[in-house]
Amino acid sequence: MRNRMIAGNWKMNKTYTEGVELAEGLASELQDGTGSVDVVVCPPAVDLKGVAEVIEQKKAPFALGAQNVYWEESGAYTGETAPDMLTNVGATYCIIGHSERRGYFGETDEDINRKAKALMKHGIVPISCCGESLEVREAGKHVEFVVDQIKKDTEGLEITDPSKYVIAYEPIWAIGTGKTATADDAQEVCGAIRKTLAEIFGQEIADGIRVLYGGSAKPNNVAGFLEKEDVDGALVGGASLKADSFAAMVKAAM
Ligand code: PGA
Repeated sequence: MRNRMIAGNWKMNKTYTEGVELAEGLASELQDGTGSVDVVVCPPAVDLKGVAEVIEQKKAPFALGAQNVYWEESGAYTGETAPDMLTNVGATYCIIGHSERRGYFGETDEDINRKAKALMKHGIVPISCCGESLEVREAGKHVEFVVDQIKKDTEGLEITDPSKYVIAYEPIWAIGTGKTATADDAQEVCGAIRKTLAEIFGQEIADGIRVLYGGSAKPNNVAGFLEKEDVDGALVGGASLKADSFAAMVKAAM
């Protein structure tokens, strides 16, 4: 069976000092453990090392993830971060393909596919995001759109251990807007994602890949999503910026 996952995407929030403080707060909120729930926090790149130190010192029950990566090993790519740099500071997960990166920074499915391959080569688990705009949703083409993203983003990937690849379905119209998809909306797309994964990788692998929901997920609504068959957790933005609200979501998943 799939372990549930609650992942926090801090986005461009929290300085190094604030990030360390938040990680310490979370470590104390979760000091009794997280049961079978896998918890990941994804701070800004400059906070990674500081959060890694908190995890080590406090033996905190959460893993460290980055928010972006570049697919080359090293070299003249000003401003970018290589996979090896992430592993070296203790990151074991990395978000890729977030709609903010697709929208504001022009990332394509081809880029996201290259990033996934580079991460997996270095043993970092991608949390690969997909999701439709309001326009696509209103045209009733959301399932088709997301299935197409999944096919492109996973092209040529070799997944032998399904716990090492995670998908987050995040309808763009629900991100940071306070407007959540319903649990049934999430199930419709997450179910279609799993069906597509089964066609590509076989049923057994598809059954082991975690598919998360993201988009205004909060302590008071997360349980409803988790009841759905194909929703295995949440990728949380706003509500991950406070230790108590994020910990409440982890506890709701336990
Ligand atoms: P939100 O962000 O929870 O603030 O809507 C989710 C995300 O973009 O990952």
